[in-house]
Parts: sequence; structure tokens; C-alpha cells
Amino acid sequence: MSGRIPREFIDDIIARTDIVELIDSRVQLKKAGRNHQACCPFHNEKSPSFTVSQDKQFYHCFGCGAHGNVISFLMEFDRLEFPEAIEELAQYHSIEVPREKGGTPAPSAEQKQQKESDYALMEKIAKYFSKQLRVHPEKDKAVSYLKNRGLSGEIVKAFDMGYAPPEWDSVLKTFGISPIYQEQLLDLKLITENDNRRRFDFFRDRIMFPIRDKRGRVIGFGGRVLEDGGPKYLNSPETRIFHKGHELYGFYQAKQAHRNLARVMIVEGYMDVVALGQFGIDYAVASLGTATTPEHIQMLFRATSEVVCCYDGDRAGKEAAWRALENALPYLKDGVEMKFLFLPDGEDPDTLVRKIGKESFEHKLIQDAVPLSKFFFDNLLQRHHINSNEGKAALKTQAMPLIEQIIGDNIRETLLSDLSNFMGDQNKHKYERDVAQANLRKTPKKLDFNTPNKSTISPIRMMIRLLLDDPSLATQCPAANPSPLAGIDMPGIKMLIELYQFCFSKPQANTAQVLEHFRHHPQSAQLAKLMMWEYAEHNQAEVFSDSFTKLLDWHLQSRMDELFSKSRVSKLSDAEKQELNLLVKEQR
Ligand code: UTP
Ligand code: MN
Repeated sequence: MSGRIPREFIDDIIARTDIVELIDSRVQLKKAGRNHQACCPFHNEKSPSFTVSQDKQFYHCFGCGAHGNVISFLMEFDRLEFPEAIEELAQYHSIEVPREKGGTPAPSAEQKQQKESDYALMEKIAKYFSKQLRVHPEKDKAVSYLKNRGLSGEIVKAFDMGYAPPEWDSVLKTFGISPIYQEQLLDLKLITENDNRRRFDFFRDRIMFPIRDKRGRVIGFGGRVLEDGGPKYLNSPETRIFHKGHELYGFYQAKQAHRNLARVMIVEGYMDVVALGQFGIDYAVASLGTATTPEHIQMLFRATSEVVCCYDGDRAGKEAAWRALENALPYLKDGVEMKFLFLPDGEDPDTLVRKIGKESFEHKLIQDAVPLSKFFFDNLLQRHHINSNEGKAALKTQAMPLIEQIIGDNIRETLLSDLSNFMGDQNKHKYERDVAQANLRKTPKKLDFNTPNKSTISPIRMMIRLLLDDPSLATQCPAANPSPLAGIDMPGIKMLIELYQFCFSKPQANTAQVLEHFRHHPQSAQLAKLMMWEYAEHNQAEVFSDSFTKLLDWHLQSRMDELFSKSRVSKLSDAEKQELNLLVKEQR
């Protein structure tokens, strides 16, 4: 691993770079008011919704939700990894990227060459395995296995499937022709060394599935046994070129088959992807023996607007689906759709498509797939019984933090309104009253939101939004420090506190630098989303302080309501009585 790039250097390089100049060198921008615009380079569109702000050093597309600072832009547009994007910016300014001690130096030309050589070797070995289906003395048993599974020669070829010979050292002998090559095979986990330092092939006597990354390079393998015995599938372990959580089997082939992917189906197995492909459902992908990760979802929603997760109908399948749902929430932008298809007992996509064919399978996809919102509440309602107030409260407690993560306003509001329906009318009124109260009490005179959602802007969001625009507000308004509210149960409060504290410590930072700091924060997507809100506001410090007062009022009022309600059904403790007294006094 190379040493970390120091934070200060990252801040500095963002400060040195002008995002308008950088983006304009790749996508022609037009000035439009205070901002610059273009047709979005990340999705197809006819009228420009891609906006770049010079003040904030930030871009955002109102169409597809792409957003970020100069580093994000290079990562997305030039398809670079994070450190590569920084290298690129450093080159642009003719400066060196420093590395913190404790690691080896930055990726050198040598390391880049190493990777190229790794990919080339993996490709050769994939070819070698596929050739064994034609030339190996025991090829017949492999070929008949594939035939028995109903695979056509054509599809085997399309996925470059192959056969790893049964000998202990086929790959070792063929490719490990010098100590250097043997080291490379070890690094790529194609051979293993035992305790006696004997080396042998990792995959033996298995049907091989080469795994390609989204650019089509072979980065790993999955291997299936021909007969029962031993683990059914072996997968390449993680290597310097293979990171399971970031890759999907079949994604490259699906993208090759469709310029624009209208839909992607996530299935569980390699064999499912291949069988579906054979029947013309050429948009299926599988994770590599792991759960569906946030990286998977992000990758898919960049390429398509509909993702159908296809799982067993049993408990394990439902659990896998729930995990996929949780990981998807932060990437649900308006305009995308996620659905779940649960298969009948004992079927997987491979067996099912062979039974019913493409048409019926696709009909099922449309007819039986459950929309995310339905699966969401079906699942939660199984855990919480809403015929009691406690059950309702538990439902809300579990649902709210999940719903809050959704980036798309429309999707989020649909789920919120479903939730309030489940909570019952009384609660619905209370919910609406809370929101209305929070927004209307002490409405700042000059506040003018240029957004369709003005009624739902909570003081927390408002404060976050203002801090993002002008991080120095934290030091300007020390009395509006939200840190003492850390313990309260309000969506976004933790984020606000972290942001406030960061801005307080770095009053000179600009928007792009603040966002950079929170790049890997679980709620970074929400931060970026708040950046979409345009508002006309002059006295930001005053609005910031007013919002804090509102937040405080809101908190005190709801705590008071809570204690009053409690006092009606049970006795308050002495501490609670004291607290209520204080709150009542405070109100006067
Ligand atoms: P399944 O057990 O559902 O197998 O595993 P399958 O895809 O239906 O395969 P066939 O039809 O029996 O050939 C689904 C996925 O889980 C991972 C593999 O990625 C597999 O494709 N897996 C399964 C493993 O990694 N190791 C195993 O031992 C089993
Ligand atoms: Mn199967």
C-alpha cells in the first residue's frame, strides 16, 4: 500500500483548481446567471441540467443527481480512482503529490506496468482454461457436464467459460516458467503454496467462469466442481486487481449487449447469469459470493434506471434482499426504480428460465416483482405490530432513519406518506403539525426558498445547507452550536453536529473542501443533495441563528409534549417532573 495523501494537500489542491476551468476543458460550459451549464456528461439529455458553481467549486446535475468537486469530476469523467484523480490534478499544477510516512511511495510507473502485466496474464489464463475444453485428455467430462446443464457452445464461448485441468500443476507448469512468473501467479492467487513450500494450482478439475471488470479485463475466476464433493464454488481470493465488493459478474457482458441498459437484474449465481444470457435475458449480473454492496448499487444506478433483485423466496433470500435494500437507500435518486422478485420454492433463475422461457420470465419480472416501497413496509410490518402504540412507535423508530437516507425527494416523500398512513391519522396530523410548526414558527422574514419542497425544510437541514455554503458561519455564530443536542432523536442532528464542528475548526474552508472532508461519510449523499437547494438569502448568519432557535424550540416543545403525555398514563420520576417544570418555565 502506498502512503496516504495528506489531508492538507487535498484541501490545497482543491483550493488551487478552478472547477469551471477544469470541467470546461472536457465539457463545454455556458455561463447562465451565477453558474455555468452544459448537457450532463453522465447521462443522455437534450437540455442542460448539469450546473457548475464557481463560488462553491461544486457541480450538480439536476437530471441524474451526479455531483461533487473537482476530484469527484475527474473520478467520474476520466474514470479514475481517488488517488489517480489527485495525481491528475497535481500534474495539472506541475506539483508532486506528497505521501505520509508509513507506506511505500505513490504508485509508480512500475506499479502501473505491474497491473497491465497482471491483466494480460489473467487474460492468457482465461484463454488457457477455455482451450482445455477442446484439447485436454479429460475434456469430455467437462464438456458433457456443460451439456447436461443445458449450456450451448455459443453461450460458453460468450462468457469465455473453461475447464481447469485436474492435475496439480497445469497452470504452474504452463505459466510459472520463471521465479518471477511464479511470484505473479502466487500474487494473483492462481497457485497456492502449502506449509512445505510446495506450490500447486488453486483451481483444479473445475468449470471456470472468468470474472471481468467493467472495462472487460479479467480480474478473477469462479470455479465450479463437476461432481459433488468439496466446496461447490471456489472464487479467487482478493488480490491487488480483484476486489469483490466492487465487481459484478456479467456486468461487462450486459453493457456490451446494450448501449443503454434499460434494466439490470441481480441474481445469486454465475450459472444463473449464463443461463439467463442463453435465453436472451442478457442483462443479469451476480455478486461474487458476497452480499450486494453499496458499491454494486452505485455502479448499477450509474448504468441503468431499473434494478431488479432476484432472490429465493425463502428466509435467506428475504434477508439478502433486505440487505440489498438497505445498501441501496442512499443511491435511490428520483427516476430510478428498485424491485424485488422472489422465486418459487426450489427454483433459481437458471432452472426457472429453462422451464418457462424468456417471455414468461420477463412477464414475471414485470408482474410479480415487488416495488421497493412495498417490500420495505411488508418487511417492517412483520417485525412491528402496529395495532399498539408501542408497535407504531417502534415502526417509526426503525423506518425513519432508513427513509431519511433516500436521496430522491419524490421517493422519500412517498415512503414518508406511506409511513404516516401506517401510523394512523392521529399521528399523521401530529407529524404534519411538527413539520409545519418547525417551519412556520418564527419564519424569518427574508427567507425565500426557490424550491418546490419549501414546506419540508427542517431547521436542521437549513443549518446544514447554510454551513455548506458558508462554513465560516460556525465561527460567526458560536451561540448556535448544536453539539448539546447530540442525544436527541431527530434525523440529521448528528450530521449537523459533525459538520458544525468541522466548520468551526476550519473557518477558511470552502464548500468543495468541506464536502471533500465528508466524502466517505455515510451521509455524504445527503449533504450533496442539500446542495441542490437554491435560495435567495442575504443575512445568512441571522437565518442560521434563527434556525437554531427554531430547532431548540422544536426540541423543547416535543420533549414537553412527551412528558405531558407520559404523565397522563404513568407517574413521572422526580427527575422528569423537575425537567418538565423547567421546560414549562422556559416556555413562558
Ligand atoms: P448457489 O449454491 O445458489 O449455486 O450459489 P448456483 O449458482 O445455483 O450454482 P449451480 O446451479 O449449482 O451450479 C450461488 C453463488 O454463491 C457463490 C457463487 O458465487 C455462486 O454462483 N457460492 C456458492 C460460493 O462462492 N461458494 C459455494 O460453495 C457456493
Ligand atoms: Mn443453480
